[in-house]
Amino acid sequence: MAEVASLATGGGEIAATGKDAGSDVCSAHERPRTPPGAGDLASETVVVLDFGGQYSQLIARRVRECGVFSELLPHDTGAESLRARAPKGLILSGGPASVYAPGAPALDRELLELGIPVLGICYGMQLLVMELGGQVEAAEIGEFGRSQLTVSQPGRLLAGLPSEQACWMSHRDIVLRGPPGFAELAASSASPVAAVEDEGRGLYGIQFHPEVVHTPYGQQILETFLRDVCECTATWTPTNFIEDQVAAIRARVGEGRVICGLSGGVDSSVAALLVHRAVGDQLTCVFVDHGLMRKDEGQQVISAFADHFKVDLVAVDAERRFLERLAGLTDPEAKRKAIGGEFIRVFEEQAAQLDGARYLVQGTLYSDVIESGGSTGADTIKSHHNVGGLPEDMDFELIEPLRALFKDEVRRVGSELGLPERLVWRQPFPGPGLAIRVVGGPATKEKLDTLREADAILQDEIRQAGLYGELWQSFCVLPDVRTVGVQGDGRSYGQLIAIRAVTSDDAMTADWARLPYDLLEQIASRMINELREVNRVVLDITSKPPGTIEWE
Ligand code: XMP
Repeated sequence: MAEVASLATGGGEIAATGKDAGSDVCSAHERPRTPPGAGDLASETVVVLDFGGQYSQLIARRVRECGVFSELLPHDTGAESLRARAPKGLILSGGPASVYAPGAPALDRELLELGIPVLGICYGMQLLVMELGGQVEAAEIGEFGRSQLTVSQPGRLLAGLPSEQACWMSHRDIVLRGPPGFAELAASSASPVAAVEDEGRGLYGIQFHPEVVHTPYGQQILETFLRDVCECTATWTPTNFIEDQVAAIRARVGEGRVICGLSGGVDSSVAALLVHRAVGDQLTCVFVDHGLMRKDEGQQVISAFADHFKVDLVAVDAERRFLERLAGLTDPEAKRKAIGGEFIRVFEEQAAQLDGARYLVQGTLYSDVIESGGSTGADTIKSHHNVGGLPEDMDFELIEPLRALFKDEVRRVGSELGLPERLVWRQPFPGPGLAIRVVGGPATKEKLDTLREADAILQDEIRQAGLYGELWQSFCVLPDVRTVGVQGDGRSYGQLIAIRAVTSDDAMTADWARLPYDLLEQIASRMINELREVNRVVLDITSKPPGTIEWE
């Protein structure tokens, strides 16, 4: 979805768009997936079958926002496997294919006979209509973007909604006629049939996307489906999740000892707090300060966890070790490998000192679970050696309490657990830290310190301007070059700082943020005035693709 971040400027607002909102264009349906086994977490589940639409994850998230636990499964999940999950309803997502294309993902008829309500969205609706004898046809002109929906009869699904409303479309094939027994509820200028239902059989279809914000009544339509049609009771809340997890972790761990690698990021922080709430002092957190964090970040982690939450925290000041490993390394992948390797060594040393620790906490998220198969044949653009990415042969049983959660849910759970807002809403920060932001040369202590100070100025100004939360990431890069300047009456030959600020939904694509000129001027002048080594500041205006977010 194109999420629009509005960055206020002196004279008005400039919109920075995230990813292109054209047609459904990903092939997520080809990826193997492991279900999170969250059935035991929620008494009610609705399954979203992924036909490869770019909004499939979003549908699953929107369902959860209605208070109903959802699982996203591949479109070819069999009826047997669905029955075993006993979902209260089934949603068929959109997808990039035409229902007539050879090899297009098909709909297993058995799924319509499970005795649970089914809602088809976009491609999902077209499959449903075609399978049950309605008419779907390729259209000359596609319908992409905002459309006007005219409701002729609301039926059950559109009950209580205005007869004219905006909606978001993204399709080429159109439904000309609903299947026998179905009521046709609505149309748009390009879609003769844009919503259908057969209330008796519990089958529903909408051509538009209820999950995107550009369909203003979309969430209400999903709620009607979940609460009125599927009769879900909406008990999926952060509080209930915490209670369930705490009980499950206690039951599993008993008197055992648990260890957790804390990075300061929101995932490991929330996972650690959840486990701490469950088993208290049986948990020891290890925080490896590699000296590559942003200004004061290490201290913030220590004061939140050790001082405030009274977590048993081992903080290891390993800056010197990491700097030694980085000495002379210029190649980005070599830096990542050195940092990943050293992290494992430090962590293992600490773990060895903890007698009898049997469990290891990891902050794996549902999106990691969904993506775990990876797309076949994809290029490795960067090997993401996460701090916290530990080798598989470590002799621990894993506890992954966030395995069923999306990132926004992790944040809500974090807030509920009392994690400081600064940590809850922290922008993503790469595991190898500032080392991959000193580019084109080795990350030395001096350069890292300059970069850290420049970054602190940037963050400070962005926060003061109220823009921190609107940006996916904002940071500085220090290229290993010097440029000539004139400062005071003399020539200077100093460091260059590049500002990188991007908007994005998921880091797969990103746009450079249109920061207000006045703010940029203020940032540049502070950097040059306050940092002796810096005499030039530039702005990166590359989107992703073709650029990546980080420079290395
Ligand atoms: P790129 O630069 O590939 O980054 O567009 C996408 C997202 O991943 C983050 N990133 C990393 N995260 N270890 C990490 O944990 C890494 O080595 C790494 N490299 C990039 C980046 O900050 C962005 O959010």
